[in-house]
Amino acid sequence: MKILAIETSCDETAAAVVEKGRLVLSSVTYSQIEEHKLYGGVVPEIASRRHTEQIVQVTRKAIHDAGMPLSEIDAVAVTAAPGLIGALLVGVNFAKGLCLSLGKPLVPVHHIRGHVAANYIRYADLQPPFMCLIVSGGHSHIVEVNGYTDYKVVGRTRDDAAGEAFDKVARVLGLSYPGGVHIEKAAANGDSSAYALPKPSVDGNPCDFSFSGLKTAVINLVHRANQTGRALAGTEVNDIAASFQRTVCEILAGRFMAAAGERGCKKLALAGGVSANGALRELLQTAACENGCELYMPPLSLCGDNAAMIGSQGYFEYLDGHMAGLTMNAYPTYAVDKSF
Ligand code: KG4
Ligand code: ZN
Repeated sequence: MKILAIETSCDETAAAVVEKGRLVLSSVTYSQIEEHKLYGGVVPEIASRRHTEQIVQVTRKAIHDAGMPLSEIDAVAVTAAPGLIGALLVGVNFAKGLCLSLGKPLVPVHHIRGHVAANYIRYADLQPPFMCLIVSGGHSHIVEVNGYTDYKVVGRTRDDAAGEAFDKVARVLGLSYPGGVHIEKAAANGDSSAYALPKPSVDGNPCDFSFSGLKTAVINLVHRANQTGRALAGTEVNDIAASFQRTVCEILAGRFMAAAGERGCKKLALAGGVSANGALRELLQTAACENGCELYMPPLSLCGDNAAMIGSQGYFEYLDGHMAGLTMNAYPTYAVDKSF
């Protein structure tokens, strides 16, 4: 079974062909980052326009690279939520058109379930149940993946997502967009114990996250320096980046390991754009070893947005009968534990 997958939820126009959910026959991604960088973040209107311009050639290349005619595709999977609505609609309408003309089934995929599925591509033997820490630009979730399409949310952020916190802190430190990777680079030259930053917990659920207080603490450090009439020195930027990164990683790993420990779960996975962060991967790997857990992490090439992960999850959604008709819509928000 070969699935053509389309992903346009944010600033990457992507298409891929994936066989039986695990084997990537092709994966093409057109990144718009250079253009959005000029504005310090994604401009939704520009993102939609670029998707419209790129979607045909990106898909053509994915089919070409897979070495097969379009007619050999068995189904089309597309990210239907969550994301920028204008951007999502480009992919969803394009996928609908393809399904109508080819007479093939249409499979809507939740973007965040796609991030989790990046692990199925890397590990041929990985099967649910397991627990997953999902950390992206828009989401920070701890979930129980009880089946390929059976999710239970255990914890979530009450305000900023982890990636969003990285991006906002990078901006205030004068680092480029998207911030995560630049914070990681600056942190490599900094002292992670230079600043003690808050680790806010959340009333009511010890597995929930809140990153806005931590972000504000960093903003205050920068403002205090500015009020004395000076810009931060390079070493201070590096030290703040390193201290911030350490604090975020300790919060994420601490709550995830506690949630897994409470539930007696020994099979753990990481997913989402922030899973590219070396400090987070290292900390989680150490914690997993200390607690006798197996830890699955996506390859760096599949941490960010791509269509291969959508093709993988699309296969499992298809097997579970989660298809859509041509009246299917796109949604800017959608619960990860609710199937389409
Ligand atoms: O999953 P993703 O590509 O897009 C969404 O679905 O949101 O995640 C993007 C987020 C951005 O906030 C970016 O700064 C963050 O992932 N990110 C990182 C790293 N690489 C990307 N954060 C920390 N360290 C990284 N190396
Ligand atoms: Zn994503």
